[in-house]
Amino acid sequence: MQNKIDQYSAEINAFVPANADELEIFRIKFLGTKGIIKDLFEQFKIVGPEEKRVFGKVLNQFKQLAEAKYNELKESYNSEIVNPKSEIDLTLAGEGFAVGSRHPLSLIRNEIIDIFKRLGFVVAEGPEIEDDWHNFSALNFPEEHPARDMQDTFFIKKNTGKDDIALRTHTSSVQVRMMEAGKPPFRAIMPGRVYRNEAISARAHCFFHQVEGLYVDENVSFADLKQTLYHFVQELYGEGTQVRFRPSYFPFTEPSAEMDVSCSICKGAGCTMCKHSGWVEILGCGMVDPNVLENCGIDSKKYTGFAFGMGIERIANLKYVIRDLRLFSENDVRFLNQFKTEII
Ligand code: PHE
Repeated sequence: MQNKIDQYSAEINAFVPANADELEIFRIKFLGTKGIIKDLFEQFKIVGPEEKRVFGKVLNQFKQLAEAKYNELKESYNSEIVNPKSEIDLTLAGEGFAVGSRHPLSLIRNEIIDIFKRLGFVVAEGPEIEDDWHNFSALNFPEEHPARDMQDTFFIKKNTGKDDIALRTHTSSVQVRMMEAGKPPFRAIMPGRVYRNEAISARAHCFFHQVEGLYVDENVSFADLKQTLYHFVQELYGEGTQVRFRPSYFPFTEPSAEMDVSCSICKGAGCTMCKHSGWVEILGCGMVDPNVLENCGIDSKKYTGFAFGMGIERIANLKYVIRDLRLFSENDVRFLNQFKTEII
């Protein structure tokens, strides 16, 4: 028996399988239910007590040798199947995840909201489908007045004027809803999408995004309006940005103005973005017309207010030097990927 065991031990130690099949043959030969070890244990049962003492130990050691060899070889086959060593270099860095990025319009919108929030303004929202009252009449647009044509409207239901239903042309409609629903003071901004029936080109689109603002309280003056917007521009474009106000007209504000900022790209020296004037218009503003306050149930003798409205696209164009409005809504990943660094 000792001779046999020595012989088998040498065979086991020298065994190198060429593949997993050979290893399986090895297992069946030594460790299988009809294998050599089983057979040796059968023979062991019938030896005398003296031999039992000697061979018991030898046989167990032999069994452990066969099992250890098998387990070791099996392990190396398993790991090779999962990680073929030839193809995977585990020391290489990982590939990382493809992370999305914020849309440039969201980045600008959030920046604008943050600036006004720090001044105590809250955010108000309203419906994109509006009735005539909230989009026009309450805002002092006389019926059949050409001022309604200033904002090429997409009508959903065109009736007699005051029953019209349309896609909102500005978020001033949210100002009306807010004033109707509450009591002064109001200090809010209204971000949102608006629609105008314009041919789509690099400079115009049938929808765009606005942030409008409203401040109504006792003794609100044009000086408050100027200082608020001046502060806003310093925050958005940096200290030292110049502003200028030009008289303008809106049915819902009196007096009205348009505000220009010194071109943030050429710093006023003149470039194609500012059409070589050094200035770019970024918003319309004015003192809320007393008629609008009264239409919304607010005592115009006691309260005054200012309002302003700006297009987010216009501000993003300037900030990122984007010359084609259509890029904002085409979802071209090559365009969107450029804003990756701005992920918050
Ligand atoms: N509602 C105006 C527009 O869409 C902007 C504006 C708002 C102007 C408030 C003055 C005051 O063009």
